[in-house]
Amino acid sequence: MTHRLLHGKRGIIFGALDEHSLAWRAALKIKEEGGTFVLTNTPVALRLGTVHQLAETCQAQVISADATIVEDLENLFDQAQDILGGKVDFILHSIGMSPNVRKQRSYGDLNYEWFLKAMDISALSFHKILQTAEKKDAMNEWGSIVALSYIAAQRTFPDYSDMAQAKAMLESIARSYGYRFAKSKKVRVNTISQSPTPTTAGNGVRGFEKFYTYAQHMSPLGNASAEDCANYIVLMFSDLSRMVTMQNLMHDGGFSSTGITEEILGIL
Ligand code: NAI
Repeated sequence: MTHRLLHGKRGIIFGALDEHSLAWRAALKIKEEGGTFVLTNTPVALRLGTVHQLAETCQAQVISADATIVEDLENLFDQAQDILGGKVDFILHSIGMSPNVRKQRSYGDLNYEWFLKAMDISALSFHKILQTAEKKDAMNEWGSIVALSYIAAQRTFPDYSDMAQAKAMLESIARSYGYRFAKSKKVRVNTISQSPTPTTAGNGVRGFEKFYTYAQHMSPLGNASAEDCANYIVLMFSDLSRMVTMQNLMHDGGFSSTGITEEILGIL
């Protein structure tokens, strides 16, 4: 059922790689709700992934950009405004990658160049996007910007490794830039802390399946799916959430407030 919550709104969606991506589901839902947007990803993701299929379905244009390169972002914001016919109302940052996690390096044996790369891709890219949007004056008033995070920012999950630091930084950037953007343009900036979800990035974490099952048993409502996440993103881009900013919003079926469940006790 569609409510046309995003009718007339324009935006940029980062991070759709294939049909499992959280950004992919979000794009379909945003389209359904009347939003128009451009899709963007790195040149290699555009080559290896299936973004062009999504673009066809959503009648969206695809712009290549590496979110760690400011010149790419400047070009992206210029092109996006030309294509969409004006400033943007929403931005989704759905970007994450850690070479240390991918290559299963132990937390006591991290490669620091890779660590910095993980921070640049997964956290600093958010600041670069926000700063470019502000400098280009590319956001409409009462616009909404969302990045996707994970509860490892607050609690330790050993195999999440340096991505935990990246997510902590991502959430901190949302607060700091959220203050600035609220004052200057009434733009809100939030992170959504999503349940484990089977995607390319999710499956890259060692033991993901057990991780997913554990969270499922620990969440009174069960894990939030990619579809649920897409719905929450739509809500955050709609005018129904216009006074919510600088928040890390738990979207996890109750996981973050739960100490133990009957299901877990039953297994022990
Ligand atoms: P995904 O692998 O489908 O998406 C990650 C995206 O980041 C890919 O499209 C990739 O091309 C893009 N990316 C990597 N380097 C980039 C760069 N330099 N510039 C621009 N884009 C770049 O996986 P998923 O799960 O959809 O990840 C999206 C976001 O959701 C990530 O921030 C992830 O940490 C977060 N998240 C995922 C959870 C999960 O269990 N899957 C749980 C909580 C948060």
